[in-house]
Amino acid sequence: MAYNLLKGKKGIIFGALNEQSIAWKVAQRCHAEGAEIVLTNSPLALRMGELNKLAEECNAPVIPADVTSNEDVTNLFTKSMEHFGGGVDFVLHSIGMSVNVRKNIHYTENNYDFTHKGFDISALSFHRVLQTAMKLDAINEWGSVLALTYIAAQRVFPDYNDMADNKAYLESIARNFGYQYGVKKHVRVNTISQSPTRTTAGNGVKGFDGFVNYAEKMSPLGNADADQCADYVVTLFSDLTRMVTMQNLFHDGGFSFTGVTQAVIEQMEK
Ligand SMILES: NC(=O)c1ccc[n+]([C@@H]2O[C@H](COP(=O)([O-])OP(=O)(O)OC[C@H]3O[C@@H](n4cnc5c(N)ncnc54)[C@H](O)[C@@H]3O)[C@@H](O)[C@H]2O)c1
Repeated sequence: MAYNLLKGKKGIIFGALNEQSIAWKVAQRCHAEGAEIVLTNSPLALRMGELNKLAEECNAPVIPADVTSNEDVTNLFTKSMEHFGGGVDFVLHSIGMSVNVRKNIHYTENNYDFTHKGFDISALSFHRVLQTAMKLDAINEWGSVLALTYIAAQRVFPDYNDMADNKAYLESIARNFGYQYGVKKHVRVNTISQSPTRTTAGNGVKGFDGFVNYAEKMSPLGNADADQCADYVVTLFSDLTRMVTMQNLFHDGGFSFTGVTQAVIEQMEK
């Protein structure tokens, strides 16, 4: 069901790779709620060609940007402003990648060139996006910026590897830039800490099935899926949440505050 919550709003969505991507679902929901969007992903991801399907469905231009390049991110905001004839009201950062995870390198053995690359893509890029937007004055008053994160920023999930450190940094940027952007232009900046979700990035984590099943058993409401995440994102892009900023918001069916569940106790008693 659509409520026209984003009617008249314009936004940029990073990170839709394929139909499983959280950003893909967010784009569809934003479009259904009346928003106009620009889609972006790295030139490498665009070569896969899947994004064109979504672009057609949402009537959205696709502007390539490698999020580690100042030039690309500047070009993205400049072109988006030309396209919309002004600033944007929301931005979704839905990007994550760790070379150490991909190459199955243990946390204690991390290769620092790989660590740097993953950090640049997964964490520092959020600062780059915010800094570029601020310089170009690309986000309208009371705009909303969101990034996606995972609870490994607060608690240890050993196979999440260096992505845990990247997520801790990402969440810190949301607080610190959120302060600055709030004072300057009433722009709010938050992170959503999402349940494990079956996507390309998610499946890259070692033992991901175990992760998903454990979280499902440990959450009173069960795991939140990508469509439900998209619903939550829409509320945070809407005018109904204008005073929420600098927060890490758990969207995880209650996992983050659950000590143990009956289902897990029963499993342990077997
Ligand atoms: N899947 C999960 O279990 C889960 C849980 C919590 C948080 N998250 C977070 O959600 C976000 C989206 O991931 P997803 O699960 O939808 O997976 P996904 O693989 O569909 O999305 C990751 C995206 O990052 C993009 N990307 C990688 N390098 C880039 C670069 N240099 N420039 C621009 N874009 C680049 C990829 O092309 C891809 O579109 C990530 O931040 C991820 O950490 C995922």
